[in-house]
Order: sequence, then C-alpha cells, then structure tokens
Amino acid sequence: MSDHDKAVNLGTAPVTYGQGDRPPRGDYSGARADYTSEQDWSSYTPADHALYRRLYERQVGQLRGLACDDFVAAVEHLGAPDRIPRFDVLSASLRRHTGWEVVAVPGLIPEEAFFALLASRRFPVTSWIRRPEEFDYVVEPDVFHDLFGHVPLLFNPVFADYMQAYGAGGLKAGRLNACELLARLYWYTVEFGLIQTPQGVRAYGAGILSSAGELQYSVRSPEPSRVAFGLERIMRTRYKIDTYQTTYFVVESFNQLFRATEPDFTAVYATVRCLPDIAAGSVLPGEQRYSAG
Ligand code: PHE
Ligand code: CO
Repeated sequence: MSDHDKAVNLGTAPVTYGQGDRPPRGDYSGARADYTSEQDWSSYTPADHALYRRLYERQVGQLRGLACDDFVAAVEHLGAPDRIPRFDVLSASLRRHTGWEVVAVPGLIPEEAFFALLASRRFPVTSWIRRPEEFDYVVEPDVFHDLFGHVPLLFNPVFADYMQAYGAGGLKAGRLNACELLARLYWYTVEFGLIQTPQGVRAYGAGILSSAGELQYSVRSPEPSRVAFGLERIMRTRYKIDTYQTTYFVVESFNQLFRATEPDFTAVYATVRCLPDIAAGSVLPGEQRYSAG
C-alpha cells in the first residue's frame, strides 16, 4: 500500500495529486460537493467479491502476533468476508459503538474535503476494488485497504477520537499552511504506526495491516528502525511512498497518542519549520531503537 498523499486542488474536478501526474483512479462524475458518493453495492461483480475474500483471508490469517489486540478484536465487525461489506450496514454498527460512519468516495479526495469528513466522524472509503493482478500491491488505496486497514480501529473509542481530532487539526493546518507537516503525523501513526505491548511491538497502522508483506516486515524484520513516538520528530521526518518504511514510530498506548496531539499545534509547526528535515531511515544520536516484536 502506498500513496495516501492527498489531492492538492480544492474545489471542483479535475482533481490533481501531490505526487506527479497520474490521473485519479475512480469515477468522480457522480460525487457530491463534499466528494462523497454512492457505494453502488449491486455493481460489484462476483469476481470483485471473490477478490475481496481472498485479500481478507490472506490478511486475517497473519494477524496473530503481528497486529495489536484491539485490531484483532475489532476486525470481526467487518462481517463475513464472502462479500465486500455494505457501507450502510457497517455505518449502523459503527454509529452504535463510537458515533463514526463510513461514506463512499470515488478514490483519493482533496485534503480539505478529507479533513472535513474526519472532523465530522465520517471516514471516506474508496468504493472500487483493485484488479486481480494487483493482489499483492496497489498504488492507490482501494476498498480493501480502506475497510480492512482503517475501519476496525474506528471501533476503539480513543482511536476514534484521535481520528476526529486529526480531521479538525487538518482544517487548521490548512489555514496555517502546515498540511505537509501534519500529513507526516498521519503517515507515521494512522498508516504505519506500531504500538508497544507486553508481548512486543505490534502493528496498528492501516497501511501495514492491509499489506501482504509489510505487516510481517514492520514487526519482525531486523532491518527497519523502530523509534519512540515523538511529535516533532515525526513532523520532521520524510517518508517513502513506494517501498516498505525504513522507520516506524512506536506509541505506548492510544491514550499517549491522543494526549500528545491534544495541544495547539500552531507553536509546534513554528518550531518544526526552523529545524531541518530528517531522512526517512535515520536514527538520531541517543535515540533508542525498539527491538523487533
Ligand atoms: N492539536 C492539534 C492542533 O491544534 C489538532 C490535532 C489533534 C492534530 C490530533 C492531529 C491529531 O492542530
Ligand atoms: Co489509508
């Protein structure tokens, strides 16, 4: 799983993307002004459902010992894997647990629209599914990544609140011209975060949890650096979008994540802007590395 960089043009189509000139994948013609659309569940083919099931089964089969317990416990909320879940059914269940919903979107959406949805506890889920030849790797997030990777932890009350706060923070970052710094926080927590547990480090990031190979790599491989979560440290750190990560950041709990991100970021952005970027794989002097889980 790779590029979650958000679109840069706000407002109407055509939507363009931060990383180069690929046209967005997906049909934006039926999207509303807030970029939400219909899931159109009946248009999925039997082959689409079968592909979802194969993706689901491969991932669910390798969660034990690699995914954090909260994720493992919540994944069953996605329902039986024999079909792509209906977003309306999933939303009804999410609403009861944490007040979140999932809404369909045609694909990547502009950052401001993305932040606005999160701030109102609506998680945008891409409606299309990858092609069979993309079983192992898809460049843009599809329905499998968005549902399997992101939705289970929206059932966790603390994580659910963090996601909403992130959305509100994103709207503010837009006004402060700090979206790039804030995007690093999303990348290194929501997409590629690890959490320390009594059994060792485990994955909670959606980009890892929906990846065939990176789940095992991120938790077990001796290669990448695993360092303690630090807000300024993360905002200074570049990231790779087309390879496994070379650094992962480890939180002690979702409460730590929530508390550390609660203060007003205005001053944090100002500080970070004066400090040099850190390359994706570097470990700073004195920084301790967590061992593989
Ligand atoms: N506290 C942040 C701010 O003032 C908002 C935020 C919360 C951002 C959680 C990200 C995650 O901008
Ligand atoms: Co994602």
